[in-house]
Amino acid sequence: MRTVSDIAQLRAQIAEWHRAGARIGFVPTMGNLHPGHFSLVDIARSHADRIVASVFVNPTQFGPREDFASYPRTLESDCAGLAANGCDLLFAPAVDAIYPFGPQASVKVEVPGISDILDGASRPGHFAGVATVVTKLFNLVQPDTTVFGQKDYQQLLVIQRMVRDLRLPIEIVPAPTLRETNGLAMSSRNQYLTPEERERAGIIYRTLQGMRDGLHAGQARSEVETRARAALENAGLAPDYAVLRRASDLHEPAANERDGLIALIAAKLGRARLIDNLFTDM
Ligand code: PAJ
Repeated sequence: MRTVSDIAQLRAQIAEWHRAGARIGFVPTMGNLHPGHFSLVDIARSHADRIVASVFVNPTQFGPREDFASYPRTLESDCAGLAANGCDLLFAPAVDAIYPFGPQASVKVEVPGISDILDGASRPGHFAGVATVVTKLFNLVQPDTTVFGQKDYQQLLVIQRMVRDLRLPIEIVPAPTLRETNGLAMSSRNQYLTPEERERAGIIYRTLQGMRDGLHAGQARSEVETRARAALENAGLAPDYAVLRRASDLHEPAANERDGLIALIAAKLGRARLIDNLFTDM
């Protein structure tokens, strides 16, 4: 596997592969890679001939009081992991390669509506930062296909809508969530948890399953959501939201709507803000 941080080198390699008729698959990440990230590389391989991954901790998607400075940066082990998992090229640019005028003065890509609810309401500007950096990365890598995890479900919808609205000729493949044995969704931010908190965080997935089961047992949506919040609080987590939404657009479902819903949770535990979700259709 080759690693480049330089845009000219990246473009030359991509152009060579395109000339040879290769289909290019792309997995964008912020590094500190875990098996969930590597599963995306694996999926990309079944949709493309050459796989490019990026590692870039994107400043514009972090709020002023968030963890940009302390976000774990582990490029050496990320490199080894990507090479072992069949990645062909790692693009690991510096901030000024992506933001030549500085992050604050950057052109912005905004996806209205879907970016303003749930995580977007709690993290103003977050999804504009994500949409902006992903547009820049798509423009540099010129992928035919790209893989995004369902763990960040709202992010996946933002990117799908952006690609459709900008008419980008890029296929988006959603990837299932990889979990620890206690159900905790794998995440770089799990490193902020103590071993005891990590065990306790298993309550998030159990609560999602309880929301799904409650819905199937005929409970009202408001009752399902109230019980879920209580379950999280009883385990010492501070829920941001625990809701049932329409999976297609994350809007609130109508009173009698029960198909095509998704349960979503965001909750703080210790230093970490954790998110997870579960489709409720069986
Ligand atoms: P990051 O959090 O590093 O995640 C990179 C990709 O890995 C995302 O598509 C995410 O959904 C996926 N992923 C994370 N945990 C996963 C798990 N447990 N199972 C399966 N897939 C998982 O998401 C970002 O970075 C950034 O916002 C980015 C898109 C790179 C833009 O900066």
